[in-house]
Amino acid sequence: MNGRRSHLEFFLVTAALIFASDPVSGFHTPQLYPNNSSFINQANATNLTGMTIGVPNVTGRVDLNTSNGHVYRPPQVPLDVGLYPETPEGLKLQQVHVFVRHGERTPVGIRLTSSIPQHWMMCKTARQFHATVSGMTEDGEKDSFLRTRKMVERIDGIVVDGECLLGELTDVGRQSTFNYGRDLRKLYVDKLGFLPDTLPRREEVYFRSTNLPRTIESLQQIAHGLYPTDKCARDAFPIILVRNTKDENLLGNTSACKRLEILQVGFAQAAAAAYNPSLKHLDQRLSKYLDGNPIRVDGKPRASGIMDTVRAAIAHGIKVPKEFENKTIVDVIETAVVNEWFAGRYKTEEVRRLGMGRLLADITYKMQRKIDKGDRDPLKILVHSTHDTALAALCATLDVYDEKWPAFTASITFELFKKTDERNSPNFSQAIISSIRNNPGEHFVRMRHQNKNMALPICAEEGKHLPGHPEFCTLAAFRDRVKDLTPVDWDGECAPAGKPS
Ligand SMILES: *[C@@H]1O[C@H](CO)[C@@H](O)[C@H](O)[C@H]1NC(C)=O
Ligand SMILES: *[C@@H]1O[C@H](CO)[C@@H](O)[C@H](O)[C@H]1NC(C)=O
Ligand SMILES: *[C@@H]1O[C@H](CO)[C@@H](O)[C@H](O)[C@H]1NC(C)=O
Ligand SMILES: *[C@@H]1O[C@H](CO)[C@@H](O)[C@H](O)[C@H]1NC(C)=O
Ligand SMILES: *[C@@H]1O[C@H](CO)[C@@H](O)[C@H](O)[C@H]1NC(C)=O
Ligand SMILES: *[C@@H]1O[C@H](CO)[C@@H](O)[C@H](O)[C@H]1NC(C)=O
Ligand SMILES: *[C@@H]1O[C@H](CO)[C@@H](O)[C@H](O)[C@H]1NC(C)=O
Ligand SMILES: *[C@@H]1O[C@H](CO)[C@@H](O)[C@H](O)[C@H]1NC(C)=O
Ligand SMILES: *[C@@H]1O[C@H](CO)[C@@H](O)[C@H](O)[C@H]1NC(C)=O
Repeated sequence: MNGRRSHLEFFLVTAALIFASDPVSGFHTPQLYPNNSSFINQANATNLTGMTIGVPNVTGRVDLNTSNGHVYRPPQVPLDVGLYPETPEGLKLQQVHVFVRHGERTPVGIRLTSSIPQHWMMCKTARQFHATVSGMTEDGEKDSFLRTRKMVERIDGIVVDGECLLGELTDVGRQSTFNYGRDLRKLYVDKLGFLPDTLPRREEVYFRSTNLPRTIESLQQIAHGLYPTDKCARDAFPIILVRNTKDENLLGNTSACKRLEILQVGFAQAAAAAYNPSLKHLDQRLSKYLDGNPIRVDGKPRASGIMDTVRAAIAHGIKVPKEFENKTIVDVIETAVVNEWFAGRYKTEEVRRLGMGRLLADITYKMQRKIDKGDRDPLKILVHSTHDTALAALCATLDVYDEKWPAFTASITFELFKKTDERNSPNFSQAIISSIRNNPGEHFVRMRHQNKNMALPICAEEGKHLPGHPEFCTLAAFRDRVKDLTPVDWDGECAPAGKPS
């Protein structure tokens, strides 16, 4: 098979591995399994659970409107190009920073097994790889492609085609992240003409992921949607960047910061104390699904774990017990979980600094570099593949969090604009003065989340946003706030006792 065309190659920089995905069809299952493993087909395995599994829609979305109108399903909000507002006259887009939660995945733990399947047969796509293997052959060939395939083996030795690991990106998630990338393309290439149709060189784009398979794979899908292989110039295929844990700033949870860990544990305990009483009222309705256990922030399983399983099931069209589709009930659980994980802790300046300060500093640094270097900095779009925690933390840190659990493929964008039109300037001589230097007053940052503009409270004051457009924060005001949030002495502030005051 001539794979050149259909392959999207990525350099996973830290690991120096190349993956190329390939359609699964037509691959003959080799006899690789140990003696004892039994291979059972999907229909059979699905029935093992006694549950039917949703079929991804061609649009990548499961039709969730099958039940009556009272059923509450949390909204899944894909990027909507039609809802992108017209840019005010005189502003020109310079750079886009995207933060996107990975696509639909399986639950990260096994819970609610009496009502939700334990095994999810939803990972059939892209399970075949051409991995580069290095090895010197007699011909002197250095790298070659190993054709391989990944499959899940259960403890009893059973191997089922298409079964997902816990927390794995599913076929639905692959499709929706691909769609996300395709919609980025529709917006920034087709509609705005901001990005070139064909990627001329990889320096124009930046793709970074946290170091987990589901985020890396989501990013591969997004990159492929944004710049399919035939839209990449020779050797311009994108690089997927991954950082070591100690350098990771996409997660508020960094094992490199003891102080943050201590604060997080404290907030989790506080959330349990604050929200367990409200959850207690649900025991009568829910304990039957939890082996008789009560539902608690710090319960067994944790309320967050229950929500995780329920949200993942719903996102895949899997039927959940009716109580988990009752908005009154779900809202109580969501409030508790969101406060445990995101909302509560990110109300404090210290958690904001340690959790999101470095990431925000990274954003403003790159924006400033773009301003300083102009066209000599070719970087136009940065796509970061990350987690619910990062999206909620970014929103909370900037005081625009709606206290909802971010959906799969939910995203935040920060767009940098430059004022190019001086007609609105008070007078000509002033305009000349400000254009001599790249005055930060002439640059604006707009945050968007779930297809909506976010008017940041930090820019609410007159003079801190584009007149008449509170969503266009002056870069100066944005940067001032970020400066306050940026840890100066990271190691010192991360010491268990925190910053000496
Ligand atoms: C199991 O494996 C052994 C050694 O690989 C082989 O000799 C034997 O025939 C296998 N048995 C079956 C039932 O495949
Ligand atoms: C699986 O379950 C469905 C619906 O319950 C049933 O129609 C089908 O025959 C079952 N398939 C197998 C292989 O048992
Ligand atoms: C699964 O399929 C195998 C082989 O067809 C069969 O022996 C087994 O009984 C099936 N299991 C279930 C639960 O249907
Ligand atoms: C797929 O989505 C479309 C549009 O949302 C819907 O009309 C259709 O019924 C869906 N199909 C399935 C199989 O869910
Ligand atoms: C689902 O149904 C509700 C209420 O009937 C409707 O408002 C909503 O647009 C529907 N969603 C989809 C995706 O069709
Ligand atoms: C291997 O097969 C034997 C015989 O069928 C069975 O008794 C044993 O439990 C199997 N071992 C595992 C790990 O599945
Ligand atoms: C979160 O922090 C804990 C404790 O520092 C660490 O064990 C865990 O690996 C971290 N998780 C991630 C995803 O970084
Ligand atoms: C939803 O749950 C609330 C609280 O338990 C209950 O009062 C209400 O009747 C439920 N609604 C439905 C449609 O079951
Ligand atoms: C134009 O700008 C200059 C310099 O800031 C200022 O002194 C002058 O008053 C301005 N003129 C008008 C008409 O606003």
